[in-house]
Amino acid sequence: MEQLRAKHLAAIADADDEAALEAVRLAALGKKGEVSLLMRELGRMSPEERQTAGPALNALKDEVNAALAARKAALGDAALAERLAAEWLDVTLPPRPRLAGTIHPISQVTEEVATIFAAMGFGVKEGPQIEDDWHNFDALNIPPEHPSRTEMDTFYMAPKADGTRHVLRTHTSPVQIRGMLEEGAPCRFICPGRVYRSDYDQTHTPMFHQVEGLAIDRAISMANLKWVLEEFCRAFFEVEGVELRFRASHFPFTEPSAEVDIRCSWTGGVLKIGEGDDWLEILGSGMIHPKVLRAGGIDPDQWQGFAFGMGIDRIAMLKYGIPDLRAFFDSDLRWLRHYGFSALEGPSAHAGLTR
Ligand code: PHE
Repeated sequence: MEQLRAKHLAAIADADDEAALEAVRLAALGKKGEVSLLMRELGRMSPEERQTAGPALNALKDEVNAALAARKAALGDAALAERLAAEWLDVTLPPRPRLAGTIHPISQVTEEVATIFAAMGFGVKEGPQIEDDWHNFDALNIPPEHPSRTEMDTFYMAPKADGTRHVLRTHTSPVQIRGMLEEGAPCRFICPGRVYRSDYDQTHTPMFHQVEGLAIDRAISMANLKWVLEEFCRAFFEVEGVELRFRASHFPFTEPSAEVDIRCSWTGGVLKIGEGDDWLEILGSGMIHPKVLRAGGIDPDQWQGFAFGMGIDRIAMLKYGIPDLRAFFDSDLRWLRHYGFSALEGPSAHAGLTR
């Protein structure tokens, strides 16, 4: 017994992983383990022999079990210590701020716009950039002879077999139609997205971004439109005293229509919103034309609503003092680093739009 004890305790001390330890356990205490075999022999002993051998064997068994448990715990601790030493991570290292890239001003401003309108109960809708003629023009009451349909402004796709041609949408207004058909009245949503027109200079690129918005209900009026746009400009430009000027205008899809200017000043090439004697046009708007409501499946005798559309790139340039629109799409890393936004701090209604 003394030999067995010395042998197994030494083997336990030598086991340097769990598999080795398990092998020792089986050799000592398994079904055919040496200690177990000895215990089976107790039955064949005389009562006197059993009286001394029994407790001694039990004590041996307990001792081996205790040694196994202690060794197992020690191995576990050692393994943990090894992992902790190998897998450390210094969470106090500062991030490398510009390495992860930046959020493009257009993405940022789109988020800002959606955040502000969401707070006023507007949903967000998107539509296809390749549109059919009906959604882009007809449904919006744009007559066949309207100048915006000419190849001068519109990018047409190759004609299909039946002679119809899709277009790269020239504005986000077709999403109004899709949204109305989808939601019915009442409804309230904005539609941001890419649009295309054949134009290229310091303030025009053939692809740019618009955000359209509309609200339809039984008694929506120009007064609601004015309030919503003022509220939007106040929040977006982060200027309390914004002042808007509504100028009578014409769009085929709204009646009456108004273009909206914002009060500003230009001094020393710096634009300030909300003060001064200059006016800057920022958007088109009006009451949705009855024919457009009808095209959207909404009864104009029951419902009315306003709509507006503005250039996302344009309001981004105004807000962040970005002089040339073309640079937005040049993918110049230095420009992106200068005008980009932190990826970790998106705009929110409670914490502010830009940080
Ligand atoms: N779709 C118009 C444009 O592209 C903008 C607009 C939208 C005007 C909705 C009035 C109402 O210029």
